[in-house]
Amino acid sequence: MTNQHPKRYTVTAALPYTNGPVHIGHLAGVYIPADIYVRYLRAKKQDVIYICGSDEHGVPITIRAQKEGVTPQQIVDKYHEIIKKSFAEFGISFDNYSRTSAPIHHKTASDFFKKLYDEGKFIEETTLQLYDEKARQFLADRFVTGTCPKCGNEQSYGDQCEKCGTSHNATDLINPKSAITGNTPILKETKHWFLPLDQYQEWLKNWILEGHKDDWKPNVLGQVKSWLDDGLKSRAVTRDLDWGIPVPVKGAEGKVLYVWFDAPIGYISSTKEWAEREDKDWQPYWQSPDTKLVHFIGKDNIVFHCIIFPAMLKAEGSFIVPENVPANEFLNLESNKISTSKNWAVWLHEYLLDFPDKQDVLRYVLTANAPETKDNDFTWKDFQARNNNELVAILGNFVNRVMVLTHKYYDGVVPNTNKFYPELGQIKVFADKMGQSIENYKFREALQELMNLARLGNGFLQENEPWKKVNEQPEEVQNIMFTALQITAALAYLSEPFLPFMATQLKNMLQIANKNWDEISVSDGNYLIESGHQIGTAHLLFEKIEDEAIQKQLDKLEATKMQNEKSPSLTLPEGKGIEPQKELITYEQFSAMDIRIGTILEAEKVAKANKLLKLTVDTGVDVRTIVSGIAEHFTPEEVVGQRVQVLVNLAPRNLRGIDSNGMILMTETKEGKLKFVAPVGEVDNGATVR
Ligand code: 2FM
Ligand code: ZN
Repeated sequence: MTNQHPKRYTVTAALPYTNGPVHIGHLAGVYIPADIYVRYLRAKKQDVIYICGSDEHGVPITIRAQKEGVTPQQIVDKYHEIIKKSFAEFGISFDNYSRTSAPIHHKTASDFFKKLYDEGKFIEETTLQLYDEKARQFLADRFVTGTCPKCGNEQSYGDQCEKCGTSHNATDLINPKSAITGNTPILKETKHWFLPLDQYQEWLKNWILEGHKDDWKPNVLGQVKSWLDDGLKSRAVTRDLDWGIPVPVKGAEGKVLYVWFDAPIGYISSTKEWAEREDKDWQPYWQSPDTKLVHFIGKDNIVFHCIIFPAMLKAEGSFIVPENVPANEFLNLESNKISTSKNWAVWLHEYLLDFPDKQDVLRYVLTANAPETKDNDFTWKDFQARNNNELVAILGNFVNRVMVLTHKYYDGVVPNTNKFYPELGQIKVFADKMGQSIENYKFREALQELMNLARLGNGFLQENEPWKKVNEQPEEVQNIMFTALQITAALAYLSEPFLPFMATQLKNMLQIANKNWDEISVSDGNYLIESGHQIGTAHLLFEKIEDEAIQKQLDKLEATKMQNEKSPSLTLPEGKGIEPQKELITYEQFSAMDIRIGTILEAEKVAKANKLLKLTVDTGVDVRTIVSGIAEHFTPEEVVGQRVQVLVNLAPRNLRGIDSNGMILMTETKEGKLKFVAPVGEVDNGATVR
């Protein structure tokens, strides 16, 4: 059952966990393919929304917070901003990017749970669950590891084995160990709510294995079949944790929704947020059978999007289920598995700093090498080679030759034609082939076709050699250049889903407006760019990437490797009180801080700010004003004459209307009393601390 002519499309991309920034594995697996798909649909003037947001609950967030010595809220705030900004700069064209901490999501997820609860769709049961006596905490999900009962992987998590993809209950693990203390957990009673997946087994089997056996990807069908063959069991959808959405029923105090219960509902809440902002109705996008719902995900998410979430939607009763879940395999980096905790990744926000204005190069490389059917490897050498030998040498070169020759021969005015070369008839064939590939989620294949069109253009110029004929056969050259310009315009249109920055630049260079994908064709009298049209100035679309830029990236990875060998991933703190060590920094990062010995000369309270004292400090370098948050710990009189350490090169900040120039270093007793970090013995003001 496929929806051949849907009225609208709801396209979702997996909500990234805000336990770290986004890396190339995420981009290649999920966000770029989904972006290509929606950009293509938009070019066809379809009604489509592209929905995403940050997944801010779950154990990965708590673990990261413990690692960095901050609260989960601080972690999600930090990474939500980084992720959202980097996606936007990279041209991932979400219609809405929300977050699961948003009130609209809490309400949507709570209401969803409540409805299933009220309708008796859950089994409420007190069972024995894994408990770490030392950490005084129940162990679920990533707080526990053990041997996967299905494939024998010894590092399976409590809810899912990353090796075979199976989702299980933590108590199914063989030899479970707490990820917090390393101890073997005991079993302790606790009450939870279970979704009886077995009741949906038959429906799932018919819907996926029968209904979608021809249009879903083999890797997805294979995994689904394997779980269905094993027989589905009830899965707890609540947890004994303090970070998450509170379970909205009596007797569930201290319990939250399982992150994989709330996160996919995030697609719905993000759609509601979009609809509210755009003054639209969200319901057709989720509840109307003429909507095509497509979930773009990585392979570790298959069970949640093909079994658990559809079962939830079915249980709820008013929602449509996905028409496809085109999951990708994984991308490795320089032959090793990408890992957030081991910092083995190319982070999007860092890439954007190192290669500003090269978004399309990464989009191109990650699409050309996308892990569509098997795991693939990203290497910096391949990145360089694909840029230099493909984008620069094939696509960029063709466009540049056409632009330069058009300016040289005709002052940038598209010449007349009286000949219809067969290459022109090929343009529609390319557009259709690419469209077919995109609709079948074969984005590599579609991109190949785009490059083949550029190759066709190069071959056409090479064969016809206008530069040799321009004096003797001016009319022939007009025909040739007219044809080459049609191919160039077609490239501008057809590259949009893949290389959106370049496409815009090329459309600007050619001075042409957007066009419906279905109209990208040339026939006699129907052209993409007309004779007499004035094109704009030529700029190079791509430039060569030199060895030094690549070496810099390889050096960075080498440094990570060495760091990982020296300090294998930081362990979780054992108890409260001592903050865990933060992540390693380089000597350069440390020496960038200019810390001096100084003396506080004057101090006064800041009006209407209980915590702040305005200090006049002799830093040896100068006498300056520093506003410090110590007023609840010291009176102004107490601090005058105090020797201190001052971070003098901290960027100035305005606090309550006063410019503060630096920071006084403080420490804290275990009772929470602030103390100055003063020099011991005779040291002059201005002496450096290093
Ligand atoms: O694997 C992940 O990164 C999850 N945060 C994906 C969630 S997708 C969804 F359902 F929200
Ligand atoms: Zn397994």
